[in-house]
Amino acid sequence: MSREPRIRLDRVGKWFAAPTVAGKRTDALSDVSFELAPGEFVCLLGPSGCGKSTILNLIAGFEQASTGRVLLDGDPIREPGPDRGMVFQQPMLLPWLSVRENVTLGPRLAGQTPARYLPEAERHLRLVGLHDFADHAPWQLSGGMRQRAALARAWLPNPEILLMDEPFGALDAQTRLSMQELLHDIWRDTGTTILFVTHDVDEALFLADRVLLMSARPAGIRAEIIVPFGRPRDPEELVADTDYGRIKRDILHCVREEAARSLALDPA
Ligand SMILES: Nc1ncnc2c1ncn2[C@@H]1O[C@H](COP(=O)(O)OP(=O)(O)OP(=O)(O)O)[C@@H](O)[C@H]1O
Ligand SMILES: [Mg+2]
Repeated sequence: MSREPRIRLDRVGKWFAAPTVAGKRTDALSDVSFELAPGEFVCLLGPSGCGKSTILNLIAGFEQASTGRVLLDGDPIREPGPDRGMVFQQPMLLPWLSVRENVTLGPRLAGQTPARYLPEAERHLRLVGLHDFADHAPWQLSGGMRQRAALARAWLPNPEILLMDEPFGALDAQTRLSMQELLHDIWRDTGTTILFVTHDVDEALFLADRVLLMSARPAGIRAEIIVPFGRPRDPEELVADTDYGRIKRDILHCVREEAARSLALDPA
């Protein structure tokens, strides 16, 4: 890689203590190494429980690695920071605040004056199509609108790195496609570095420069796929591409194999 990586995981292991004295500890990650280049869009795929969210939590600074190193621009990550944003599977909006108040939560908690953050917040609300709903409560929005508000909130502090944990998993297929296109356009315009967890191979191949496939727990990176399609990508044209079918089949094969291993490791 010619450019210095923004993020580097170097032989990272992570285990969690047992919930009871007699219990067994959980070995989540065994030996995970990868890098994210500046402005890269990387998708992380793997079976349920293999440690995808754990990886995001390590980069976000919510958790510390048990072994190995997690580096941001060459320095160990010790705590969360405004340079890294997170979008969770559920939008996690505070129900007693309006959409605008939710979106501006970060700058308000940081003590910024409205004059400083409001113009940019209005621009973000417009970008995600929520300017007419800024005074609504979250529960007055549809699921897709809530997720758009969460996206605007994560992007408002202008993070250099965005960590996204299955953010569109609960959406219907059409809304999901619109959200993917919206995310792609914002990413293209901002140059943010994105690590995006998904279970959906089509989503990964539509969005990513690179896909990392994880093995069953204790997980490592089983394979890396460089996505060969140019941008912008048209979902209808992609599915008609013969390479697309082949790459999707190879990924599905690996994912299913690891899912089967993972279920065998976790007998009922
Ligand atoms: N805070 C925690 N305390 C104890 N165990 C944890 C904790 N966080 C994660 N784990 C364990 O680590 C393993 C990996 O969990 P993680 O949430 O990273 O998986 P995942 O790949 O994101 O799964 P999914 O696709 O279902 O979201 C699981 O066995 C989980 O029980
Ligand atoms: Mg998860």
